[in-house]
Amino acid sequence: MQPALSITRLSLSEFRNYRQLHLEASAAPVVLTGANGAGKTNILEAISLFTPGRGMRSSPYNEILRETAKVPQWAVAISLDGAEGRQSLGTSWESDAPGSRKSMTDGQVAKGSGVFSSAIRVIWLTPAMDRLFAGPAGDRRRFLDRMVTTMDSTHPSRISAFEKLMRERNKLLSEHEFDASWVNVLEIQMAATGVAIAAARLEALDNLQGHINGSFGENHCSLFPSSRLVLEGIIEGLLRENPAVHCEDEYRKMLYDSRNSDQAAGRTLIGPHRSDMIVYHLEKDIQARRCSTGEQKALLTGLILAHAKTVKSGFNGYMPILLLDEIAAHLDEQRRGELFDELCRLRSQCWMTGTDRTQFAALEDRAQFFQVSDGCVN
Ligand SMILES: Nc1ncnc2c1ncn2[C@@H]1O[C@H](COP(=O)(O)OP(=O)(O)OP(=O)(O)O)[C@@H](O)[C@H]1O
Ligand SMILES: [Mg+2]
Repeated sequence: MQPALSITRLSLSEFRNYRQLHLEASAAPVVLTGANGAGKTNILEAISLFTPGRGMRSSPYNEILRETAKVPQWAVAISLDGAEGRQSLGTSWESDAPGSRKSMTDGQVAKGSGVFSSAIRVIWLTPAMDRLFAGPAGDRRRFLDRMVTTMDSTHPSRISAFEKLMRERNKLLSEHEFDASWVNVLEIQMAATGVAIAAARLEALDNLQGHINGSFGENHCSLFPSSRLVLEGIIEGLLRENPAVHCEDEYRKMLYDSRNSDQAAGRTLIGPHRSDMIVYHLEKDIQARRCSTGEQKALLTGLILAHAKTVKSGFNGYMPILLLDEIAAHLDEQRRGELFDELCRLRSQCWMTGTDRTQFAALEDRAQFFQVSDGCVN
């Protein structure tokens, strides 16, 4: 029997349209149905906060606090069954002490961006991601970096360190007569951090592509097509061909040589912050952005499933928690059926939302259904 990671209890307090919520669940898939604005996505967002960053909506924390909150603090707590037995995790934010949120594991204060990563991994798919392939490169880069983070929880700290160094360098360059020796120091650090970011991306992407290719044969007829992923970026390209120390040296020289152009542009023109992940439909060998809307949705769903399986292989065989917001709305009946079968086969506690329970009819005796209305769950 494959091990299963599951949230057995979820509690919310002053969280968006919930004053208080206590919900108990088993390891089976969870389906939340209800009218528009009932509070379905808010529940998924709460679970997504057990990852580094600001969760699946990337909202400022003050927006999460219920508008008519009785106390100036929102909180989310979960009980989790997983590799480390039963654990309780909690995260909260107070408007009187703004800044980062507080995290707790088993009643102890936990610090750092990857505090929950030994206990839980969460992957989401939201309607906002429908334009991922056709939209701006920044969205794909953030999507890629989130995938990397589920495999390497130290990745966000590298990215924020790089961004901080870059801001400092941009600021120095904007001064008419800048301190060249200080810019040198920043460029050396940017080169080391930038190459580390590129290396983590390449490693995660190769790992993911390996899983996709490994199951390509068996999924050949799948309604969720396989992807070929290409990382486009100067540093990543260099790193494919050269040892890391050489790349650091090269990138440092590029930064040095582009001081004038960066100064004129008011930003850094070369670096891992400009990279893009191009996705191809593997079988058709065309770029995903050229595929039909439905094909893009199927490709993205396939990519999320492959990502989940990749995480599973590095997480003691535990499937990550999946959050699939409005998943059924975009898929025909056959694809829905295939997706539900695959989720049950993988023993994934996936949390799905939809306005209409009939969309989930194929899951009827295999999932737990909750009716959400106006900040209450039955
Ligand atoms: N800070 C807040 N305080 C109170 N209510 C909020 C807050 N933030 C969001 N809401 C409300 O929560 C409600 C539910 O939002 P949610 O996105 O969860 O709905 P949903 O059930 O997913 O709906 P849909 O089917 O349209 O996607 C919305 O009406 C929204 O206005
Ligand atoms: Mg919603």
